[in-house]
Amino acid sequence: MPSVLESSVMAGTDKAQGGPAHFVGRREELSKAKPFVRTLEGRDVLVIHHQGTFYAMDAHCYHAAGALKNGDIEELGGKLCLICPNHKYKITLAEGEGIYKAMDKEKTPPGLRWFSKGPKQRVHRISEADGGVYVTLSEDSTWLDSDFFQGEKGKVNRDKIKAEEEAKAAIAAKAAKAAKAAKASQKESS
Ligand code: FES
Repeated sequence: MPSVLESSVMAGTDKAQGGPAHFVGRREELSKAKPFVRTLEGRDVLVIHHQGTFYAMDAHCYHAAGALKNGDIEELGGKLCLICPNHKYKITLAEGEGIYKAMDKEKTPPGLRWFSKGPKQRVHRISEADGGVYVTLSEDSTWLDSDFFQGEKGKVNRDKIKAEEEAKAAIAAKAAKAAKAAKASQKESS
């Protein structure tokens, strides 16, 4: 029996999508496994099992390449969403839609509700056969924001964002240290 950790195996062509269906594991094992990432045809894909259903989407968050495999899942606005651990962007599991909460002035009385930014994270097709779980990559040629962080060029983009975020964090830490020191010297002189 192939293990969850084994590399993907081509399992013929997915007629619905046209591309090859990649074996990613046995349902039995995957339903107990944590979300995991597989690189399929050069694309990093996150596979999630949640409440009996499998989902597959690009592994790097469309906003700034956060590791979605570490995100929490919550139902928001009536849809299951993955919450990116980096800046808490919400992505619907089934459609890859970016959603956000904002004031709805049309509502009486005005109140907060969930809005959609449209598809942002590319989702891929999951199929099952004889206890095996397969992923067929999306063949939709419409550009989605998560495409920016995929493939070799995507790796360069991810590294660049990572370096920028680290530089920002270093500046923030330095500013916090300076503010703390200024506060301490103010306290001493008063
Ligand atoms: S990287 Fe995911 S919310 Fe910013």
